[in-house]
Amino acid sequence: MKVLVTGARGKVGRALCPRLVEAGYDVRATDLALPTWDRVAPDEIEDYWQVDLTDAGAAHAVVGGCDVVVHTAAIPQPFHSAPHVVFGNNLLSTFNALEAAIVAGAKRFVNFSSETVPGFIFAYRGFEPEYLPVDEEHSIRPQDPYATAKWFGELLCERAVERADIRCTSIRPCWVQDESSYERNLGPIVRDSSIRIGNYCSYVDVYDLCDAVVRVIETDLPGHEVFYIASPDTIGGHPLVDTVREHYDGAGIAFRDLERADASAISSAKAQRLLGWTPTRSWRDYLDDDGRSRR
Ligand SMILES: NC(=O)c1ccc[n+]([C@@H]2O[C@H](COP(=O)([O-])OP(=O)(O)OC[C@H]3O[C@@H](n4cnc5c(N)ncnc54)[C@H](O)[C@@H]3O)[C@@H](O)[C@H]2O)c1
Repeated sequence: MKVLVTGARGKVGRALCPRLVEAGYDVRATDLALPTWDRVAPDEIEDYWQVDLTDAGAAHAVVGGCDVVVHTAAIPQPFHSAPHVVFGNNLLSTFNALEAAIVAGAKRFVNFSSETVPGFIFAYRGFEPEYLPVDEEHSIRPQDPYATAKWFGELLCERAVERADIRCTSIRPCWVQDESSYERNLGPIVRDSSIRIGNYCSYVDVYDLCDAVVRVIETDLPGHEVFYIASPDTIGGHPLVDTVREHYDGAGIAFRDLERADASAISSAKAQRLLGWTPTRSWRDYLDDDGRSRR
């Protein structure tokens, strides 16, 4: 089965391509970066295309012949590019990749959405979630261009499954971590639970996220489903309720039943139930109790 990975040179794409090869898929990779003109290294994808997905013609060309499109390409947050660039790049890329997947007769489109869709993480006028852990039923009120484009991308998927035979899955990953980022990103928060981050100390391991993508490719779920994908624990093992009450303006937040004191503020229960996805990694595999790298 031919699987196209967009955003293949990014943090998720770099981990995902070898994981899909290992799972037995014939992987095509694409990104904005130049190809390797020399003979590719053993861990590189030979079928790599340099494509700007905002160019519809190029998007249709690269998607052609693929059975599944895993669309990770995006500007991954709203603060380092102008708002119209974030919104325009991300929404048009998703539109073109999805349209091309429909025309190509692909059986599934895996849309990388974001934990930011409900809106409180990057809100210009801050507001709190209604409840924690947040799940797919939470209301959606994005203010920033990144979360808004991600939400609109989910809506495109919602509409696509009505007009075509394609099946769609939107994944809302939590803050993604790999070997290169655990200590830098999470280390300070492991040491100090008062450091505030918009998702209340939640994260996801990139390899667990890749396992979720494999589950999505292998599922026969019809229509369009949205799944949060988060590691089950908080950064630093900080107790969720106490941390939110002590260090965040969380007075209005209701707490639902937690499976553990350090449960993530993002629930992946739906992915565990419908995809059989079970995360197996933790920040503890990479960092000691002081947030320093074990490797
Ligand atoms: N990193 C996170 O914490 C996080 C959290 C939630 C959701 N996400 C989403 O997951 C996906 C992957 O994130 P990442 O961390 O790998 O981001 P990344 O920035 O490391 O990689 C994204 C890749 O997309 C490519 N890209 C951007 N615009 C493109 C275009 N117009 N045409 C072709 N390629 C383009 C970039 O060149 C880059 O290599 C993104 O959709 C992001 O929004 C990421």
